[in-house]
Amino acid sequence: MSLVTNDELVSKLKPIFLDHEIEGRILPLVAEINRLKKEKNAVLLGHNYMTPDVFWGVSDIIGDSLYLSKMAKDTTADIILFNGVHFMAETAKILSPNKKVLIADPKAGCSLAESITREDVKKLKAQYPGVPVVTYVNCSAEVKAETDVCCTSANAVQIVNAMETDTVIFLPDEYLAGNVRNNTTKKIISHPGRCMVHEIYTPEDIQSAKRLFGGELTVISHPECHEDVVKVSDFSGSTSQMIDFVKNSKTNKIMLVTECSMGDNIKSEFPEKEFVSTCQTCPHMKKITLEKVRDALLYEQFEIFLDEEVIRLAQKSVNRMLELSYKK
Ligand code: 13P
Ligand code: SF4
Repeated sequence: MSLVTNDELVSKLKPIFLDHEIEGRILPLVAEINRLKKEKNAVLLGHNYMTPDVFWGVSDIIGDSLYLSKMAKDTTADIILFNGVHFMAETAKILSPNKKVLIADPKAGCSLAESITREDVKKLKAQYPGVPVVTYVNCSAEVKAETDVCCTSANAVQIVNAMETDTVIFLPDEYLAGNVRNNTTKKIISHPGRCMVHEIYTPEDIQSAKRLFGGELTVISHPECHEDVVKVSDFSGSTSQMIDFVKNSKTNKIMLVTECSMGDNIKSEFPEKEFVSTCQTCPHMKKITLEKVRDALLYEQFEIFLDEEVIRLAQKSVNRMLELSYKK
């Protein structure tokens, strides 16, 4: 099952890759991966930050971290290959512990996940007894095990507001925490973690683009950006919410304040719209290549293994997020 036909794939890849690379490298690898996928009853989940060859060529399901978590829980496949970063594959394992969960490069990390340990969370809990801990899914399974409820950028405000206390510990992204603080009456205790991609943007970047292009420019930013960047943007949301905004809005000149590959993927989906180029690359997401995806399926590597007790505890916080997000 592919998201696009071969012809559609070629037209999506042409603006980004050279013809000989598409014909000589990408298409043969895509065919091999799609054959292996069927043979092994594997499902390939593709985060919105995957490069267009991985994103359009071999993914069965694409989306933001919230949607992909839900799909990892619901799948009937024997193998889940998560094309994203390590914490995302761990989340899939937490939700589907009996399945074989793979990641094509185990070194595909995340600066946010690296910013906090289980011990840090324990210390905060001791410092603020009785205060619930809401943790962004961009963290390790051990940190999730220490958490009351997880959230993503798609539902952070909703989850914080669902807590019954006036104060909430929100970890580990201090910039996302700032954006949540601006949209809730609750007191937020944060931690100094940041996304190395989104922390680079400044309000001046947006203001100077707005000066250059005037009122016709619409700026869409990810909430891992500093709150001052979000304040001068026209919209802010998770990666899928950003894509939906582009799809549903009449605006034709758009500046995406986020990761580069998502810009490439959106451009190929909405060729009638004009995108003002400005993007930052996530070196972790870029570790996932077609070659490594092929090897991951062929050799069934690199498998995610988690301690059973960590799974049991982390499942509570991730499931609670899914229940609050998808409640009818
Ligand atoms: P989303 O949940 O919006 O897909 O974001 C994940 C991420 O890592 C963004 O940097
Ligand atoms: Fe982590 Fe930022 Fe990369 Fe997302 S873009 S995986 S938050 S480092």
